[in-house]
Amino acid sequence: MISSDLSVAVIGVGARSVIGLHAPEVRPGTRITAVVDTTAEGRQRGADLFPGAQVHESTEALIAAGGVDAAIITTPDHTHADIAEQLLQAKIAVYLEKPLATSLEDADRVLTAAAQTNTPLYVGHNFRHSGVVQALRQVVQRGEIGEVKAVWVRHFVGNGGDYYFKDWHADRSKTGTLLLQKASHDIDVVHYLAGGYTRQVVGMGGLVLFGGLTDRHERPGQTMPDWFSMDNWPPASHTGLNPVVDVEDVSMMLMQLDNGVFASYQQCHFTPDYWRNYTVIGTEGRVENFGDTGGGVVRVWNRRHLWAANGDAEYPIQGVVEGHEDADRLTMAEFLEHVVTGAPTLISPVAAREAVAAGALAAESLRNGSAPYRVPDLPTDVLNHFSTSAKD
Ligand SMILES: NC(=O)c1ccc[n+]([C@@H]2O[C@H](COP(=O)([O-])OP(=O)(O)OC[C@H]3O[C@@H](n4cnc5c(N)ncnc54)[C@H](O)[C@@H]3O)[C@@H](O)[C@H]2O)c1
Repeated sequence: MISSDLSVAVIGVGARSVIGLHAPEVRPGTRITAVVDTTAEGRQRGADLFPGAQVHESTEALIAAGGVDAAIITTPDHTHADIAEQLLQAKIAVYLEKPLATSLEDADRVLTAAAQTNTPLYVGHNFRHSGVVQALRQVVQRGEIGEVKAVWVRHFVGNGGDYYFKDWHADRSKTGTLLLQKASHDIDVVHYLAGGYTRQVVGMGGLVLFGGLTDRHERPGQTMPDWFSMDNWPPASHTGLNPVVDVEDVSMMLMQLDNGVFASYQQCHFTPDYWRNYTVIGTEGRVENFGDTGGGVVRVWNRRHLWAANGDAEYPIQGVVEGHEDADRLTMAEFLEHVVTGAPTLISPVAAREAVAAGALAAESLRNGSAPYRVPDLPTDVLNHFSTSAKD
């Protein structure tokens, strides 16, 4: 029986590791007792951010030291699967930042380890908890647009130059594709709103702007907020890109889901504005968001019109006006509750796997002449293990 006063480690003390601070806030009694980072700068950040925590150079050293019930993994994407598998084999509960992995094979390997060791695995798809996604979902659930048949997503990644092209995110060997790194949230939300999982994908896109910028260098000791600036405009004025830039900055994918819903997703990393726009079309109406944080609205059209910008109903989007700290706190609280009580969560590891599957195979398609790819099923025994882990 696991104690409700969890002892938790944070692995990878970079920009995202601050979510570890939420653990004791959302579940008093929880303590961050250890940090791991492979760099001296990261270990120093860990010692500063989590005073009193033991500091380790590797996950192996953390496991050997013992004494932790759970670990929050906030390392670069290509390390997720190996670190998660090691922890699960050691029966340490895992909060793994999205994406679950950078390939479908690795995603399935992590789920298999969780199933075989019967150890809690949770993937940090915090966007499911956001006000905008919940508002869209509630419209669908109330039946205001009938039965969902199509979902279209436009993703204006205005901060893309700063967020994704000045460190490891720009390097395929570390992210695979921005259709995982960035779009895994949205693919998951498409699945959530449509009530199905992608079974066929087609991708198209390329590196059309940032690949031409030649001012590049490493940024040792820095994390993303150190170089972020809204003054980096127009996009071609960005300097100090990662030495390797080989991920696409414009990507598009088409999806057919197992329940017959069709979906599309478009991502561009050099738009002037930074937000996501969803349109969900059902048999009796459609819903769309304007803004994706507190202060924005969701509008529903469910009568016949020509052009009618205001729609037939409007709902406010709840939550923070900037960023996603509210969703981050809900996500962490849900993980800790799941570890202690086994309570089902809003997102299951299976849903996280299906987001990886669609994104990874869309990138394969994009890089192979837009050939269609079919998503293989998760092995049944692994699927069955997670059958009661999600709320729906
Ligand atoms: N859910 C969200 O909203 C959200 C937001 C931002 C980032 N993220 C995710 O968080 C993860 C980390 O992103 P970031 O921006 O913090 O990266 P970062 O580069 O700022 O930090 C990564 C840290 O991990 C350390 N590290 C690298 N390999 C390691 C290893 N094998 N073991 C231990 N430490 C290791 C690095 O030294 C660095 O300190 C990514 O997977 C990203 O997708 C999620």
